[in-house]
Amino acid sequence: MKNQRTFVMIKPDGVQRGLIGEIINRFEKKGLKIVAMKFVSVSKKLAERHYGIHKGKPFFQPTVDYITSSPVVAIVFEGIDAINMVRNMMGKTNPQDAAMGTIRGDYGQFIGRNIVHGSDGPDTAEFEINLWFKPEEISNYKKIDEQWLTE
Ligand code: RTP
Ligand code: MG
Repeated sequence: MKNQRTFVMIKPDGVQRGLIGEIINRFEKKGLKIVAMKFVSVSKKLAERHYGIHKGKPFFQPTVDYITSSPVVAIVFEGIDAINMVRNMMGKTNPQDAAMGTIRGDYGQFIGRNIVHGSDGPDTAEFEINLWFKPEEISNYKKIDEQWLTE
């Protein structure tokens, strides 16, 4: 287990449905540290680069259209094992399969409207953080609860 950074996006449906506070609250209460955050109207180019790995799949274009349809919240969280922790808290891609207690399980109904994104591994996290944020937009700081989160 090591200290990691991961990229999270509250997707347009999460913003439109008034879930920004709820989603940030869950990650914050878990002990993840916000090191960067912004409200973004996503360009087609950024959406296509973000979902570039899915180019050619049937859901690529609908997903790009969805992500560019209304603003999103882009966040970088830092914490021990942050990448897996966020993925576990989000739940499975399809909200119908996501466990209750996860964000998608509690608030979602449909795979194409699944509320939140989180990087799926260390390489993806690095790529996405660099894609969405300039280095000067990311803060390096100590948070007062850090000594209470680990032994
Ligand atoms: P994300 O990248 O958004 O965190 O989601 P994920 O890793 O759980 O799922 P991924 O396989 O990377 O899919 C990216 C996004 O594309 C949309 N999708 N639609 N209709 C479909 O079959 C389908 N499959 C994927 C979802 O919005 C998914 O989050
Ligand atoms: Mg993914």
